[in-house]
Amino acid sequence: MTLEEFFSQAKSELIRANKDRRHPFRTLVLATKAEYPGVRTVVKRRTLDDLSTLIYTDQRTPKVGEIKLNDQASLLWYHDKKKFQVIINAKIQILTEGELFEKHREIALRNAKDYSTRSAPGSALSESDYRYGANEHFCLLHCHPISIQLLQLGKERHWRAVFHQKGNWKGQWLVP
Ligand SMILES: Cc1cc2nc3c(=O)[nH]c(=O)nc-3n(C[C@H](O)[C@H](O)[C@H](O)COP(=O)(O)O)c2cc1C
Repeated sequence: MTLEEFFSQAKSELIRANKDRRHPFRTLVLATKAEYPGVRTVVKRRTLDDLSTLIYTDQRTPKVGEIKLNDQASLLWYHDKKKFQVIINAKIQILTEGELFEKHREIALRNAKDYSTRSAPGSALSESDYRYGANEHFCLLHCHPISIQLLQLGKERHWRAVFHQKGNWKGQWLVP
C-alpha cells in the first residue's frame, strides 16, 4: 500500500458515511480540552471536500464552552470490521450565522427538539423528566483538520501513518 492509497482509504470511508447512516464512521468521538479531557460521541453530519467535519450541537452544551476557551480538538473514528482507526486533530470554528450555518440549521431543525430543552444540556435535574422551551439553541461546529493519523490493523502486519494539512497532506509512515 502507498501513502496516497492509505489517505484515499480514509477519505472515501469518511465521505461514504455522509450518505450511509449505518456506516461506522457515522458517529465519532469528539475530544476537547477541559479540566479532564472532554470526550463524547457525536454524529458526523458531513465530511466536506477539504476533509473538514460538520457536527450539530446545542450552543449551551459544556463542549461549546470548552471550545470557546480552546479551539483545538481531536476527532476519532473506528471501523470495527475493517480494524481501521482515523484520528483528526482539528481547530473548531463555532458557527451561529452565515451560509453554511443557515443551510444546516434548516436540516437540523427537522429535529428541533434536540436543541430546545428549557434548561441547558448538562444542567442538574431534580427528577428524570425534562422540558422543552420555545427557543432553539442550534449551532454548527466546523472542524478544520490540521493533521490526520491513520492506523490499519492486519493479520500479517499493521499500517500507521500521519498526514499534515500544512504539507498539502503529504504523509509519513510511522511504527504502528
Ligand atoms: C450515538 C450518539 C450520538 C450523539 N450525537 C450527538 C450530536 O450529534 N451532537 C451532540 O451535541 N450530542 C450528541 N450526542 C450526545 C453527546 O454524546 C453528549 O452527551 C452531549 O452532546 C453533551 O456533551 P457535553 O456535555 O460534553 O457538551 C450523541 C450521543 C450518542 C450516544
